Amino acid sequence: MDTPRAPAQPAPAPAPAPSQLLPPPVVSDFAPSAGMSAAMPAPPLAPSAPPMMSNQRSESFYEVKAQIFGALIEAIDLTQLAKLEPIAAREEIRDIVIEIITIKNVVMSIAEQEELLDDICNDVLGYGPLEPLLARDDIADIMVNGANTVYIEVKGKIQQTGIRFRDNQQLHNICQRIVSQIGRRVDESSPICDARLPDGSRVNVIVPPLSIDGPALTIRKFKKDKLKLSDLVKFGSISPSGAELLQIIGRCRVNTLISGGTGSGKTTLLNCLTAAIDNDERIITCEDAAELQLQQPHVVRLETRPPNLEGEGQITMRDLVRNCLRMRPERIIVGEVRGAEAFDLLQAMNTGHDGSMGTLHANSPREALSRLESMITMGGFALPPRTIREMVVSSIDVIIQASRMRDGSRRITHVTEVVGMEGDIVTTQDLFVYDYLGEDQNGNMLGRHRSTGIGQPRFWDRAKYYGEQNRLAAALDASEALDPMGRL
Ligand SMILES: Nc1ncnc2c1ncn2[C@@H]1O[C@H](COP(=O)(O)OP(=O)(O)OP(=O)(O)O)[C@@H](O)[C@H]1O
Ligand SMILES: [Mg+2]
Repeated sequence: MDTPRAPAQPAPAPAPAPSQLLPPPVVSDFAPSAGMSAAMPAPPLAPSAPPMMSNQRSESFYEVKAQIFGALIEAIDLTQLAKLEPIAAREEIRDIVIEIITIKNVVMSIAEQEELLDDICNDVLGYGPLEPLLARDDIADIMVNGANTVYIEVKGKIQQTGIRFRDNQQLHNICQRIVSQIGRRVDESSPICDARLPDGSRVNVIVPPLSIDGPALTIRKFKKDKLKLSDLVKFGSISPSGAELLQIIGRCRVNTLISGGTGSGKTTLLNCLTAAIDNDERIITCEDAAELQLQQPHVVRLETRPPNLEGEGQITMRDLVRNCLRMRPERIIVGEVRGAEAFDLLQAMNTGHDGSMGTLHANSPREALSRLESMITMGGFALPPRTIREMVVSSIDVIIQASRMRDGSRRITHVTEVVGMEGDIVTTQDLFVYDYLGEDQNGNMLGRHRSTGIGQPRFWDRAKYYGEQNRLAAALDASEALDPMGRL
């Protein structure tokens, strides 16, 4: 196999390398260039360097690394390297780095050498300092606010890490590398971009001049093993009888809206609800980035598309939902309702696609209703408010509210039915709520889930039709007898 190494000995920097062996532009330091990123294979997930090690790294570590990286870049042919399998590329880099360390007479222990090597491989082949974070499965979100500040969310709590980038240029290059994989770019002229990592993680990038202190990168880590309803019960996000209620709602084709703030667990909850759907239904999902993992056999998954570099070819959520209606769906599941597609989803719910579902951003079931109304109004439908509300009432059966509490736990706080209209006002009734009772000595919130005493919800007949009425009655009764306090 061709070796990616330049035929010359690894040149101790700053000796100029033969230019034909280096891809333009040559990067002067360990920041990978945008040109290089395009040539790189999909980066492997990270090696096992303990992520928090970076906390203790000194300035001298970064200096040595920069020196060695500079020498490596001069000694290596990146285009050839890109052709290698990740493991072979790693081996190649390892050999050269060890040679450089010897030539430059850098004194370091084997452990330090290994750490340095991991870092350098991550820079060349992957997402640099982000790699150790990407390799961890316990992280929900990674939030990079410029080169020196990286936060993560673990177990519902946001914490700062010691990880940092060499400078904003390196961070920018990594952002560019991420978005170039889906054929986009981020720069001054196009400073905002949504993308996805090869593992399915959702990425948002916004760079200067819009983000003032350097590029801001936000990653919602894709969880291979999605949380199930039983996990939510285990965490205290919902009580066992509440979970029964949700399963019945999911199965009996109740039109459902999941409402919640950012990162409150809406998509997770939607995924849990869909698990209750019978196997013989034809389901079509519409998402901005495919996150749902439906277990049923008859599923069509659709994804929106952003405009290309010329600003063309955009396919919006509304386009997808409208197209769905021509695909003979039994249920339509919309990952996130954000705009005019609200109208089409409501229409679908109203026209025989019972059991359709969607999520939206709102802090309470009531707010969810008014958000829905304003999405339709702003979508340019010249309908009087009363007509929109009537449409909402005849479409939506249940709103489930998810919340991220201040102790980091996520809870389902309401299962609310849309009942009808009184005058111009939409009326609702809570079936199931979470009562906040206080907090323990560690600041963890205490509370309980309970049903509100409504014995026959509006979807009772539907539950009966599916033979679920006894289970529904039992779930509501059991919730009245207080569930034990639970916490996440
Ligand atoms: N009940 C829960 N308990 C613990 N962790 C949860 C719970 N629900 C969701 N999570 C975790 O929280 C993170 C965010 O969840 P999810 O993507 O469902 O939120 P979201 O409300 O859809 O977010 P966004 O508004 O960004 O779309 C995920 O990592 C998920 O695994
Ligand atoms: Mg979501």
